Amino acid sequence: MTDKTAPAEPTTYGGYLRLKELLACQRPLSEEHDELLFVILHQTMELWMKQAIHEIGATQSEVRAGNLVPAYKHLARVSRIQAVMTQAWDILATMTPADYLNFRELLGTSSGFQSYQFRALEFQLGIKDASFLKFQSPGSDEYRMLDDALRGPSLYDDVLAQLAKGGFAIPAAVLERDRTAAYEPSEAVEKAWLTVYRDTQKYWALYQLAEKLLDLDDALLTWRHKHVLTVERIIGRKRGTGGTEGVGYLQQTLARRAFPEIWSLRTKL
Ligand code: HEM
Repeated sequence: MTDKTAPAEPTTYGGYLRLKELLACQRPLSEEHDELLFVILHQTMELWMKQAIHEIGATQSEVRAGNLVPAYKHLARVSRIQAVMTQAWDILATMTPADYLNFRELLGTSSGFQSYQFRALEFQLGIKDASFLKFQSPGSDEYRMLDDALRGPSLYDDVLAQLAKGGFAIPAAVLERDRTAAYEPSEAVEKAWLTVYRDTQKYWALYQLAEKLLDLDDALLTWRHKHVLTVERIIGRKRGTGGTEGVGYLQQTLARRAFPEIWSLRTKL
């Protein structure tokens, strides 16, 4: 019997990558030369955030299962993604204040402040702030994704659960905390990390995990820092399109820490 089903279309480069759709997604609002760069910078960063969220999700599954070595691999990839994201600010810095002012007004009140992937990433790491949900429409996919990330355990929650499983005295108030609230640093958690760092040979797996977590926090802060510098270079001390005071607000975000005790233990070591 002959097979009457039509042969499947051969896979092509453009078809597989949906290049037609992808390259139709850049729609500047003006004829200004630099607006395309502005759009592409945002879109590529959003794509890298998507991949980072994917990797951190996989990290969380491995950590929950107690498989720390595969978790390191995902975390190492996130660090490389973060390095590329930070480097990207240098491309944007080639846009002068005059270039940006040519189309800034067209952006209205839109701002990276409303990036739901950026907030999901923060929430996933452990930097929770429910007030950012208000930037998404209730019932939308974006709202659901962010709400799930807010309610779910963060990577740090999963790591602390592993510390508890490993016999460290992590208080119930930490393990059963309200996951939608901002994480409050705990002395008991700091003490547990101090034990790990004081005997790295004995606790090598946890020690390595902690250092990889710090790599992520460090790289996120480096990204934030480069963002503030680039913003100051382009708009000075003007208010942001998203409604904050601009550079002043962004500087305050440099105090955010996903894994606070892994930072603070260093003073006591
Ligand atoms: C000309 C370029 C840019 C300027 C002048 C700028 C300016 C600002 C300002 C002033 C804020 C504070 C919120 C506000 O009031 O709007 C902000 C927040 C933010 N921007 Fe940008 N930005 C630029 C490019 C980008 C790019 C390319 C991205 C990549 C996705 C980005 C992502 C973000 C994020 C995620 C926030 C929220 C930060 C937080 O709340 O921690 N920005 N930006």
